[in-house]
Amino acid sequence: MFFKRQHKKESQKTKPQKSLSKDYGENEVVDLPKNIRLTIEGKNNRIVFGEKFSGVLNISIVGDNNLVQIGRECNFKKATISISTNDGKIIIGDNTTCGSNCQFRTKEGRSIRIGKDCMFSSNVHVRTYDGHSILDAKSGERLNSSQDIVIGNHVWIGFNSIVLKGTKIADNCILSAASLVSKEYGEQGCVLAGTPARVIREGVTWDRKII
Ligand SMILES: CC(C)(COP(=O)(O)OP(=O)(O)OC[C@H]1O[C@@H](n2cnc3c(N)ncnc32)[C@H](O)[C@@H]1OP(=O)(O)O)[C@@H](O)C(=O)NCCC(=O)NCCS
Repeated sequence: MFFKRQHKKESQKTKPQKSLSKDYGENEVVDLPKNIRLTIEGKNNRIVFGEKFSGVLNISIVGDNNLVQIGRECNFKKATISISTNDGKIIIGDNTTCGSNCQFRTKEGRSIRIGKDCMFSSNVHVRTYDGHSILDAKSGERLNSSQDIVIGNHVWIGFNSIVLKGTKIADNCILSAASLVSKEYGEQGCVLAGTPARVIREGVTWDRKII
């Protein structure tokens, strides 16, 4: 009995972390960790993971020439990454973490770029598009085009927050819980809060630890 248990432990220890057994057709999938549910409908898409990813992630790509790049040592409790249409990018920097039920969505060739060591709380939605069109009543011209999103290094995004098209947040900022951003916040080290978020503190940084 004792030997049996030891043997099981040993085999778990040596179990490979990577599982890249599926055929994704004309797409490139690099170092896909376990607990990633990946569906791709399209070609020339690239999905690249850095080392030591942990957590659960659903990735869905419908279209061609898209890129999902996740940095080293990221931890996503349970998140969804979705790209539809062509030429989109979702790039997430090293050591970024994410609570449960976060969503990162792009389409129409737009990109979401997130820096290193960012911390997303739970239920954060990040999306570069509105999903439906607002049109000029006379000309029929679409007024709400999709826009890129850029979040700098070491940014903390509070729970239930919404990050919409065109958002840019500088390094070391904190977005307060249940806030909404859709503009550029160019000053580093600010606390942003509310809907739409305004700067409520300047000259700060933050730490994952309670000090
Ligand atoms: C961002 C946060 C940490 C800032 O805390 P803080 O710097 O101590 O700010 P305060 O609580 O002193 O609030 C400062 C002002 O901003 C306002 N404010 C704070 N959070 C707000 C929000 N989400 N929406 C609108 N206003 C907000 C306060 O009412 C206060 O207004 P006043 O100056 O008129 O009185 C905090 O607001 C927060 O969101 N905490 C939760 C973070 C989170 O999601 N944690 C989950 C684990 S990752």
